[in-house]
Amino acid sequence: MNLELTEEQLTVQKAARDFAQTELLPGVIERDTEQKFPSDQIKKMGELGFMGMMTDPKYNGGGMDTISYVLAMEEISKVDASASVCMSVNNSLVCWGLERFGTDEQKEKYLKKLTTAEYIGAFCLSEPEAGSDATSQRTTAEDKGDYYLLNGTKNWITNGKSASVYIVIAQTHPEKKHKGINALIVERGMPGFVVGKKEDKMGIRGSDTHSLMFTDVKVPKANRIGEDGFGFTFAMTTLNGGRIGIASQALGIASGAYELAVKYAKERKAFGKHLSEHQAIQFKLADMATKINAARLLVWQAAYLKDQKKDFVKAAAMAKLFASQIAQEVTSEAVQIHGGYGYVKEFHVERLMRDAKITQIYEGTTEIQKMVISRELLR
Ligand code: CAA
Repeated sequence: MNLELTEEQLTVQKAARDFAQTELLPGVIERDTEQKFPSDQIKKMGELGFMGMMTDPKYNGGGMDTISYVLAMEEISKVDASASVCMSVNNSLVCWGLERFGTDEQKEKYLKKLTTAEYIGAFCLSEPEAGSDATSQRTTAEDKGDYYLLNGTKNWITNGKSASVYIVIAQTHPEKKHKGINALIVERGMPGFVVGKKEDKMGIRGSDTHSLMFTDVKVPKANRIGEDGFGFTFAMTTLNGGRIGIASQALGIASGAYELAVKYAKERKAFGKHLSEHQAIQFKLADMATKINAARLLVWQAAYLKDQKKDFVKAAAMAKLFASQIAQEVTSEAVQIHGGYGYVKEFHVERLMRDAKITQIYEGTTEIQKMVISRELLR
């Protein structure tokens, strides 16, 4: 694995960094406070190619590799994790899944607009009683010949209100357990589909997380992704890639907090010298930088293996497990270095500390990542 970034990858990284500083940083505190979805910013991210980075250009995608994607994710996440989770779900769970497993008609109809953010996508697996235990789907998709009758509730859905296209996982043949599950493309506005309550969250408060209710929604058979019963494999395979996105988000949150801590330590004086001249602070920064570097290597390794079309399941789970763990530690230390200023909103690190927690929960909790890793090790 070559750790030198190419010219193209460096250009993508710089473009994402510039975009984050000029377009996302202004207003990020207000969006967090007011729980305001960054609609205008996401639209611009679509125009700049950040919403379908790995998708084939024939579907208006960027045709880029996963390394470029994680570089952009890290830069966007340093500044605004609410924007980056929208980006991650759209890129990794919706565009990637549709491109890999969708029909030509589905790609023409949905993918071309998802890559440009004309449509935003949502991935609907979690339910009130099926979070980590994802095979226990209660939402049903009854086979009615040329359509499915969809009934049930989904919870904690990222982009819940802003999306136009929802990939909904539902049970068609309960007797077949997870092999009877389907993945259906549901459009906003289909009769019987209602967006429910918005969650009032600890972090990523600019991201709109909602419950969704489906009551006798008629979903055409043409909207099924893959063969009958392929839905659970679809969800698991897609989540493997999604975990690289969330790992890079956690990495970005950590490195954003670290950079703010370094800046503050060089500016702030205590006991007659800059904080950065105190060994207690120097050692904290050394630990933070080392953890970030280790997480980055795991993220890049997972991205590299995916690009090489090698098995990346274990690497993605390890990257997410580790990056989300160090995001807790690094953001907490960044707050500590800022002292009292770190505990108020103005200096950004308190938001980053709140944002970090979700990376240990969504797209598979820390405990699920350990299950995935140990199963791969003991296979
Ligand atoms: N990749 C591919 N296939 C996988 C897989 C993986 N990582 N993990 C499991 N599978 C397959 C298995 O091979 C099996 O298929 P076969 O029977 O055909 O071989 C099938 O899935 C069921 O697996 P298990 O028998 O191992 O089932 P289990 O119940 O013991 O474990 C699980 C399944 C791994 C725990 C799974 O339920 C899981 O990953 N849970 C976490 C769900 C999750 O990540 N939710 C996140 C919600 S989405 C989200 O957060 C998006 C967002 O908005 C930000």
